[in-house]
Amino acid sequence: MIIALEARLRSVRTAIPGFDHHFLRHPRQHLHSSSSRKSLQTTCALPAGLDSSNLPLIAGGAVAVLGAVALGVQLSQQGPGSQAATAMSTGSNSSKRNNAVLVFGASGKLGRFIVAELLKKGRSVVAAGRDADRTSAALAELGLQAGQQPSPGGSGNGSKGPMLEVEGGWDVTDRAGLGQAQRWQGVSQVVCALGSKFGRQQNGSMGYIDGMSPERVDKEGVTNVAQAAAKTLQRQPRQVQTTQVFSMSSKSDLAKWKSLDDPVMGGKSSSSISLSEAGNFLWSGEVITEGGGFCGNRVQADLNLQAYDGLAFKVKGDGLTIKCSLKTAGINNKPACAYQASFDTVAGQTADVRLAWHEFQPVDKAVIIDSLPPLDPSQITGFGFNHSRFSFNGLPNPRFHDGAFTMEVVGGLHAWRAPRTEVLLVSSAAVERNARIGNDAAARKADIPIVQLNPGGVLNQKYAGETALRSSGAAYTILRPVGLSREKEEESFELEASQGDRIVGIISRQEVAVLTAAALDSPASAGKTIEFRRRSKEESRGLQPDLSSLFLAAVEDRHRPRINLPYLPAPVAPPPPPSEDRKQEILQDSRVQAAMQRNRQPDDGKVNQSEESRQPVGAGR
Ligand SMILES: NC(=O)c1ccc[n+]([C@@H]2O[C@H](COP(=O)([O-])OP(=O)(O)OC[C@H]3O[C@@H](n4cnc5c(N)ncnc54)[C@H](OP(=O)(O)O)[C@@H]3O)[C@@H](O)[C@H]2O)c1
Repeated sequence: MIIALEARLRSVRTAIPGFDHHFLRHPRQHLHSSSSRKSLQTTCALPAGLDSSNLPLIAGGAVAVLGAVALGVQLSQQGPGSQAATAMSTGSNSSKRNNAVLVFGASGKLGRFIVAELLKKGRSVVAAGRDADRTSAALAELGLQAGQQPSPGGSGNGSKGPMLEVEGGWDVTDRAGLGQAQRWQGVSQVVCALGSKFGRQQNGSMGYIDGMSPERVDKEGVTNVAQAAAKTLQRQPRQVQTTQVFSMSSKSDLAKWKSLDDPVMGGKSSSSISLSEAGNFLWSGEVITEGGGFCGNRVQADLNLQAYDGLAFKVKGDGLTIKCSLKTAGINNKPACAYQASFDTVAGQTADVRLAWHEFQPVDKAVIIDSLPPLDPSQITGFGFNHSRFSFNGLPNPRFHDGAFTMEVVGGLHAWRAPRTEVLLVSSAAVERNARIGNDAAARKADIPIVQLNPGGVLNQKYAGETALRSSGAAYTILRPVGLSREKEEESFELEASQGDRIVGIISRQEVAVLTAAALDSPASAGKTIEFRRRSKEESRGLQPDLSSLFLAAVEDRHRPRINLPYLPAPVAPPPPPSEDRKQEILQDSRVQAAMQRNRQPDDGKVNQSEESRQPVGAGR
């Protein structure tokens, strides 16, 4: 299933409060360090210049541009000092933390973008690395330093921004260390952006630095994190939580409401609001189509519902389809505009209505207007109900009929919040393929080059890590980016999601970071494994990625057969690597060569002759 995005920034902002569609553009920030962490922090900024590499590969005849960096074949040159694990931090701020995101792999080329994006969204972050200095230096490349960050949006109103803590001593292969519950204090969500590192070792030979092979990091490490998180996270509620946000149960409550029936347009319908015998909001009236055909009401409110995912109420009605209408500060100066979502009442019964923000359409007299600002649940200035012969865009309301109606709202207006994912794993496209192929050498040979090269068995090890997370008991989301690209694009692209491990392509780390932050805040991402790629400039049609659609349209892993995808295969051990001759053949592929050529171009356009960039690393997802 390809989930194509008709990208509309409106709904991104609707479902993901505070989402900013402009990808990361971080000014350098000057921030103070927390003194208690001084020994584990560094303020030295490394020269800018992010490493990224791309490989174009063939997938079933289609050209795919796929990144090469982190399949366990990336060359890295770490100094001996960096190999010594920093002592576990003890002067932790963990006692003061609340609802923080712990990011593993924060020193990585992807992880640092994730940290930056989370801070930008106002989330406090624990950047968990093996080595605090290395992690701090990596974050400094994006202008980030440990400590209190400016408040998101730079409001300058003195409100405190999120905290960034940089901690060393987080080695995911150290199961006992990970199991120390106090280190997870105040952490509600975890991101794994881990990767094994291949490069020149201290003895001069090439190999996995510190022995951190894909098996140790991507399989055992992720398994350890998943199990520790499942035990020790600051647990979120597992059920949808509802809270009353507006009282509608006394005469003084109801005195604030106003009817808005069709006589204002020349019709003859009428309605009124009263207190029911049970002490509830009771709306009753008679709607007459001739000359009009609607009844409505509204009340002014001042509600910041940003922390919620939508509205909920119990309603006793007579089988009609009614619209709930919201007014926000952004459209207060447009009297005919509102955000509307419809719901059904059940004749003679009390029905539970739960409306998500993304169900509310921006309308001008029931005609959907995409150019209206996105619904901002933090600035709700009014709401009400409408009973109209129209649904949206002049189409008929199928359950409309003339005559008397009643609708009782039992217990006032509530807002709801669904549980969020607890552990988000950044895995990789193509990890499922080797597990599916098993011993079928012919099928492997026909697959994309990374599936054939599978350096260090990385695809199998990553898939085994995914499987461990799925069975850990933690609420999870698995994002599988295709090849990771350079970060320098000025424009934004439409993103595309898919399930079943079938797509190939390219996506930037920055885009993956934006997706990661959005997935952590989306009620629709849990239990799902989703591949992502960026559409080409031509395909993007200038539209912004609609992240809420991406998560909403994906199915939970357990439901894959419902959309004709095979159930997830069981992990298998990596197949033997291709022969040296076959490997050379794969690496000679013109598209692989072209990508390696591109990878030699550093950001200043000069040819990079470093050992790393000359390595014919194969990758691609
Ligand atoms: N490159 C691509 O095209 C591509 C495509 C799809 C998915 N991905 C995936 O994206 C992920 C991140 O990629 P990247 O480019 O950011 O990789 P990276 O720069 O190599 O970063 C790897 C991170 O993992 C950490 N790490 C390694 N071993 C660890 C251990 N034992 N304990 C704790 N942390 C450990 C490293 O921290 P230290 O500072 O301690 O070494 C580093 O922060 C990888 O899993 C990769 O497979 C990559």
